[in-house]
Amino acid sequence: MRKPLVAGNWKMNGSLESNRKLLEALVSGLNTQAEVLVCPPAVYAHSVLEQLAGTAVKVGLQNVSDKTSGAFTGEISPLMVKDLGIEYVIIGHSERRAIYGETDEQVAAKFCALVDAGIAPILCVGETLEERQAGDTMKVVAAQVEAVLRTAGPERLANFVIAYEPVWAIGTGLTATPEQAQEVHAAIRTLLAEHDEAMAAKTRILYGGSMKAANAVELIALPDVDGGLVGGASLVAEEFQAICHAAG
Ligand code: 13P
Repeated sequence: MRKPLVAGNWKMNGSLESNRKLLEALVSGLNTQAEVLVCPPAVYAHSVLEQLAGTAVKVGLQNVSDKTSGAFTGEISPLMVKDLGIEYVIIGHSERRAIYGETDEQVAAKFCALVDAGIAPILCVGETLEERQAGDTMKVVAAQVEAVLRTAGPERLANFVIAYEPVWAIGTGLTATPEQAQEVHAAIRTLLAEHDEAMAAKTRILYGGSMKAANAVELIALPDVDGGLVGGASLVAEEFQAICHAAG
């Protein structure tokens, strides 16, 4: 009942020329029932949208402002994102939390701003290696999710996605085992169900962290894993296409 979603987070990579080649290769031969999304750097959104017009591949972004307009130099408003026809924006990525100091409160404000603009947030959560080793995984992940649920209130929770991305698995080649992934995904869904059972049943929870063609089938087959948020492998057309095919 939950349609799988495979989202590519290109991070700060690409050029007009490499994007064009990557998308050309991705689209040709793509055959999946899954929803497929690519999230280029914002500066390329328009050209990527143009190239993907008429295809099944959607375009998302990697970050957004929590403000709608005004004197916020360098920021991008959710209203501008909506203006382009974009449906999804990643927020709370661990790189934004760790490198740019984004707090749970700021992430929650972005979540609300996106929903209010009619865009579905992809909310990233996940623990560091130290937190996992200290046995704090669920405490950390629950706090990240709760901060958003609390701020958003029940009326803003109709259309969003969660991405569980253990920080120790991002860009490291280490992947959560199926048992580790399923355990956290199930716990997140239980947490959502405490707020609203119907919302928990329909909200997609993606896995992210060194997902690639070789491990995607096993991960996406897990009962509470509804797709992937893919970094490095989304920059390689054949790899990303294979992950999309693994999702259905
Ligand atoms: P990698 O797939 O490169 O580990 O990155 C995952 C990620 O951070 C996606 O948002």
